[in-house]
Amino acid sequence: MLDVRQIRNDFPILDTGIIYLDSAASSLTPEPVLETMLEFYRQYRGNVGRGIHRLSVKASEEYERVHGKVADLIGAKSRAEIVMVRNTTEGINLVACGLKWKKGDKVVTSIIEHHSNFIVWLRVRDRRGVHVEVVRPKAPVEDGILDPADFAKVIDDSTKLVALTHVSNVLGVVTPVREIAEIAHEHGAYVLIDAAQSVPHMKVDVQRVGCDFLAFSGHKMCAPTGSGALYIREELIDEVEPLCIGGGTIGDVEFDSYKLDESPRRFEAGTPDIGGTIGLGAAIEYLQRIGMENIERHEKDLVSQMYEALSELPKVEVYGPEPERRVGILPFNVSDLNPHDVALALDVSADIMVRSGHHCALPLSKSILGKPGSVRASVYIYNTREEINKFVSTVKEIAETLAK
Ligand SMILES: Cc1ncc(COP(=O)(O)O)c(C=O)c1O
Repeated sequence: MLDVRQIRNDFPILDTGIIYLDSAASSLTPEPVLETMLEFYRQYRGNVGRGIHRLSVKASEEYERVHGKVADLIGAKSRAEIVMVRNTTEGINLVACGLKWKKGDKVVTSIIEHHSNFIVWLRVRDRRGVHVEVVRPKAPVEDGILDPADFAKVIDDSTKLVALTHVSNVLGVVTPVREIAEIAHEHGAYVLIDAAQSVPHMKVDVQRVGCDFLAFSGHKMCAPTGSGALYIREELIDEVEPLCIGGGTIGDVEFDSYKLDESPRRFEAGTPDIGGTIGLGAAIEYLQRIGMENIERHEKDLVSQMYEALSELPKVEVYGPEPERRVGILPFNVSDLNPHDVALALDVSADIMVRSGHHCALPLSKSILGKPGSVRASVYIYNTREEINKFVSTVKEIAETLAK
């Protein structure tokens, strides 16, 4: 069980009375994470991997230790497989720019992707002559459930990469990534998982998923903005060219040549976000103390409550599958109201923060939901059943007073 009351003490911003239902966009940051970052800035501020003095040595140790914490969190075999990046978007771009593409290669992705795992592949198509195949969900398409059988139809021996979201940031639906990864590997294709909405909310194990690359962002899981990680399976490290090279990435340099260092250093050019990465390490420890299974169960409970209550409201249209198939994300619209107006009304009238708009997934919004946008409520470790009650009653009031 998860002790929400105790957890809420670590988030003083909640004392202001806000109801924060926008963690899928970015989570709040708990005090222990802020304290760990402050400790770095106050007590051992130094650059990493360069200095011999004690501040630099301590900073390097703490920074490098986070690679191990990430490896432990996602079941990677070694620290060499973990590259620190600014966010999921950078991790995915690193793979897209770094793989050795040839004309005629195929990328298979889906229409429920976030733009960060979609337009990236369209650019590879335009630059490298790669073919991009986009799989749609099975009927009813509005649920967003991807069927491995549909992937089996388009993945072939020319497929170099299957790039998929683990959890849709709009519908909250969980993708059967393991089954699709198996199909991809039968054809020698690599598998990249956009784990921005899964790693913060459930136990994710790269061995179980069977992926070759996996990217996630720290800011959605209690860590500071500017922190995140990319997993690259050990055997593929030499298949990926670093996005940037320079200081911190070299094994040796001559006047007319250079040799890159081992992974992860070769991928982490320049001075990294040391404080942010140390904060990510603290956030991982914080979440692991609570327990990823407990977090998943807690969110499932809240999203079920929200799903049942909102589905009963006249004038409210809820999108996506039954709660069993989703994490704590729930998109909806209120009759003819513009989603931004609904979000603003929730904030102004009841201090409730939600996201509104297309959620950086325009192909999904336009061709699956048939709407330019929606309101999205998303929950995390600090949300309570009372908050969901208040949220539902405010949506009801908005529907009764503002909608036609
Ligand atoms: C599924 C998914 N992928 C990618 C991203 C991009 O994450 P970031 O902005 O941290 O790079 C997000 C952010 O909302 C997301 O939800």
